[in-house]
This record gives sequence, C-alpha cells and structure tokens, in this order.
Amino acid sequence: MKKVIVTCGLPGKALDRLSKKYQLYIHSSKEKSMSDEELKQRITTADAVITLLSNKIDKKMLDAAKKLKIVSNYAVGYNNIDIEACTDRNIWVGHTPDVLTETTADFAFALLMSAARKIVVADKYVRNEKFHGWFPELFMGCDIHHKKLGIIGMGRIGQAVAKRALGFDMEVIYYDTRGDLGINNAQSVKFEELIETSDYISLHVPLLESTHHLISQKELERMKESAILINTSRGPVIDEKALTKALQERIIAAAGLDVYEDEPNVHSGLLNHENVVLAPHIASSSKETREKMTEVAVENVIRVLEGNKPLHSVNKI
Ligand code: 8YV
Repeated sequence: MKKVIVTCGLPGKALDRLSKKYQLYIHSSKEKSMSDEELKQRITTADAVITLLSNKIDKKMLDAAKKLKIVSNYAVGYNNIDIEACTDRNIWVGHTPDVLTETTADFAFALLMSAARKIVVADKYVRNEKFHGWFPELFMGCDIHHKKLGIIGMGRIGQAVAKRALGFDMEVIYYDTRGDLGINNAQSVKFEELIETSDYISLHVPLLESTHHLISQKELERMKESAILINTSRGPVIDEKALTKALQERIIAAAGLDVYEDEPNVHSGLLNHENVVLAPHIASSSKETREKMTEVAVENVIRVLEGNKPLHSVNKI
C-alpha cells in the first residue's frame, strides 16, 4: 500500500479521501508541524508528503526519500522547497493557487484599513477603559478613498487587491517585472515612481533572490512620509530591521504585516510600535479557503499516485 505523510493536521474532510486509498500518517498536532528530524525518518518510505511552509524540503531531506513522487505544499508559495532538486529526482511539487487569492486579498485590504484607521490601537484603548470622552483628534487616521495604491507584483493576488481598491475610488498603479499587463483601471509604472508616489504600497511578489530585501532602507527613504506599507507576501521581501527604524523615525507613517523575515520570530522593535499592525501569517486563513487548500493538496497527491500530473504543479517532470 502506498504511504502518504501529512506534516500537520489540516482543516476539512479531504484527508479522508487519502485514508481510504493509502496508508496515511497525519502528524498529531493541528498547531505545530512535524519536526524536520521526524519528517526525515518518515519520508524514507513515503510515496507522497503534504507539507507546510515551515517544512524545509532541501537536498538532504530529498536524499532521505527513497520512493517519493510528490511534495504537495499546503500553500501557493513554495520557497521552502528546492524545486530543482525535486525535478532532478523526478518528484512533482504541487501547490494550492487560486483557492486562496480572494481571501488573501481581503486580508491585505483589512491590514491596509486597520493601519490607516488605527483600528487595533483604538480597540486596545477601549478595552483598557481609556475611553473617557470623545475629542476631535482621537485616533485621527488617514483616508483610504481617493488615495493612490501601489501594488508591487500584479499576479493573481495583486489583481484581486486592485479590484477591492477600485471600490474605494482609489487610484491603482502597479509594478510588475513582466511590464504592462494591460489591466483595466490600473496603470503600470516604474518601480521608483510607485515607491515615491504611492500613499499605500502592497507587496504581492514571490520570494526570490531578486525580491529578497526589495524594500530596504533606500526604498523606505524614498517613500512618502505618509506612506503605509502592507506585506502579505513573504517576510524577507522587506528588510525588517530597516522597516523597524523607518517606523520608529517616522520615515513612513505605518505598516501592516502578516509575514516576517524569520517566522515565527518578529523583530522586537516592531512589537512596541503602535503604527504597525501585526498578524501571524493568517492572510489565507478563512475556514472556507483553508478547507479548499486541503482539497487541492489532497487532489495533487491522488493524481500523482494514480499516475497523472498534479492539479497544480510548480515543476514539470
Ligand atoms: C499560508 C501562504 O498561510 O499560500 C501561501 O503561500 O503563505 C499562506 O497561504 C501558508 O502557506 C500555510 O502553510
């Protein structure tokens, strides 16, 4: 019987499809993924593995795998996996695009709105019984409507964020390495123009060598003093130390972050700053979407174990 490993408990019922056909091992925790050491042992006899972003699938891990046919990542991103090494070993890499696009865009917009309108600090203020009376400058934020949103990386999620922005009468500009994508109601601009003129900047690029620290001190210094930076992509796209300094010194106004350079660690300087909204990598975390992600990850496994291509693959073998 073929063996499938799932490195963390996943929401929904789709894993039942696997237990009917294969010998299935699901890590007992729904809150913490299997350790690399345990995975390295279990992967030796596995035909398929469903992984999280926190599972590093490098050459060493793949060398331990003697029968593996697919790494099915429970994420659209796959920077935790050595894709080339998988391809060299005839191992498919599956992922879960599309199902999380709208949910992630909702969350990017929620972060943008929370940072602009100071919702999190205002909530704390009320909870801590500090609301003793209204006054004109109480939690004065900044407008969202009719402002300029700069989207870096105009893929599926970037475009879904743009759609939301249009409902707020925002002007949408974007920078994408592919150039002008001919998108209605959004103008393609140079990276520098976007950085210098946007009121809000939202990052939607994959983590690559070329996007590592795409936003560092230099870029932060070129932004408007009133700029608000949103990141739901990958932490290392921003130099977190430089961002912390920029927020402390009010080089930019605020930020909304869902991802961090060294997750689950967060730069200590960010923790005591009120002009940054911090979330624990939950942009795709709605019940509906997380269950769909399980369905896609499972479908990818079943297709490969039955001799077909995955529904969504990152590589070609
Ligand atoms: C998930 C993500 O929170 O899909 C991605 O690339 O970053 C998020 O949807 C995470 O990957 C869960 O493993």
